[in-house]
Amino acid sequence: MAASNKEKTVWFCTSCGNESPKWLGRCPACGEWNTMVEKTVATGKPKRNAAASRAGDHKPQALSDISSAQEDRISLGDPEVDRLLGGGLVEGSLVLIGGEPGIGKSTLSLQLPLKSPSLKTLYVSGEESAKQVKMRAERLGGDASNCYIYSETLIENVIAEALEMQPDLMVVDSVQTMYSETVESSAGSVSQIKEVTSILLHFAKSSGIPVILIGHITKDGYIAGPKILEHIVDVVLQFEGDDKGAYRMLRSIKNRFGSTSELAVFEMTGTGLRPVTNPSEILMPMHEQGLSGTALSVIVDGVRPFLFEVQALVSTAAYGTAQRSATGFDSRRLNMLLAVLEKRAGFKLNMKDVFLNMAGGLRVADPACDMAVVCAVLSSNFDFALPSDICFAGEVGLSGEIRPVSQVDRRISEAARLGFRKIYVSKYASFDKKSAEGVEVVKVADIPALVRSVFKG
Ligand code: TYD
Ligand code: MG
Repeated sequence: MAASNKEKTVWFCTSCGNESPKWLGRCPACGEWNTMVEKTVATGKPKRNAAASRAGDHKPQALSDISSAQEDRISLGDPEVDRLLGGGLVEGSLVLIGGEPGIGKSTLSLQLPLKSPSLKTLYVSGEESAKQVKMRAERLGGDASNCYIYSETLIENVIAEALEMQPDLMVVDSVQTMYSETVESSAGSVSQIKEVTSILLHFAKSSGIPVILIGHITKDGYIAGPKILEHIVDVVLQFEGDDKGAYRMLRSIKNRFGSTSELAVFEMTGTGLRPVTNPSEILMPMHEQGLSGTALSVIVDGVRPFLFEVQALVSTAAYGTAQRSATGFDSRRLNMLLAVLEKRAGFKLNMKDVFLNMAGGLRVADPACDMAVVCAVLSSNFDFALPSDICFAGEVGLSGEIRPVSQVDRRISEAARLGFRKIYVSKYASFDKKSAEGVEVVKVADIPALVRSVFKG
């Protein structure tokens, strides 16, 4: 065998973690440009996982001998987070919480153990000193008697400490600040992040102790971060929203033990994150005022339908070319909807600036939102305020037709439950009469019919 500590140079994509033996301008795996960075890696027999392999002394088992009954769920004391996880944390699972800096990852992961003092928690902070964590904990309230703070960045020390302490839960804040002595590069590099995560995965699996791992995502994409980790970890919860606004959405984008695309909404208060169990409430203060340029949509995100506000501003373009900008909504889809309005309904919007915003910093991918986008744009264009007690749920097709969307029944019942007078849906939507009790369901076939019905006043 050759010497085991040979070194070679490889290139890693900072976006998806793809490895290549030579530099490439464009990553062949994810298609991103200029993301390849050079790394020196040791070849030969890896000496990695020295700490973790201590715990592992197991053999293959017959599938029939493995008991599934013991998949105990550990409640984290927050019904919304438990729901996102599919009913609580699974023993030995590795959960990644990703999000931009300042969005509330540390707050949430400290708040959870403080709310469930029966769980002995080891909170490893590589970002803040024990004192800083203490100050945050005081702000959050709760019972801190069973929560242990460990300010450390060397992952081997963290594992050794955890094996000795045997907590019920370990939190590691954050993956970018941890490093392993088996990898040469600095903390936060692609190879360190991968190594730290696989050590933690091994630790979680072999000890049965669940680990919550925090990972930063930068504003302009995913620099050497959670993207590469998504396929290593069991669960990925991602924070979305505006760090300056009060509302944050936590979305499960991967879950080996439950369904994905579940969404929980939180409000950042002076004493931590408060779950918003009725997300429709976040738009209520705005929609009383009867402003032009707003329309309400019933969207379904994960399992729950809820109402939220679409805001549009249409104004005459100051310079030759009109600007289009969308926050929280796909801008290509906005352009498509504007083209449909022009071509199929004769609205001349090509010389107008159009700005679109989804309330509360929400990112919306549900096509049912199209009808509300169209109505918000027209409402601003005509400076005509829509009545505050109507809402929309329909997709707009390329020929201007309004198409039915999934789960219409549940959207209609949500509108009825919140006391709306009318909900506009596709002419072709089929729903149960019972769900429509207390609300008038207006069926429209296409954009001209929608405009006649909504803007006739
Ligand atoms: P933090 O959890 O530190 O973000 P992350 O770990 O994702 O970087 O969130 C910090 C923000 O939240 C910061 O701007 C202060 C604010 N905050 C509150 O508004 N209330 C609170 O109780 C706490 C602890 C933080
Ligand atoms: Mg933090």
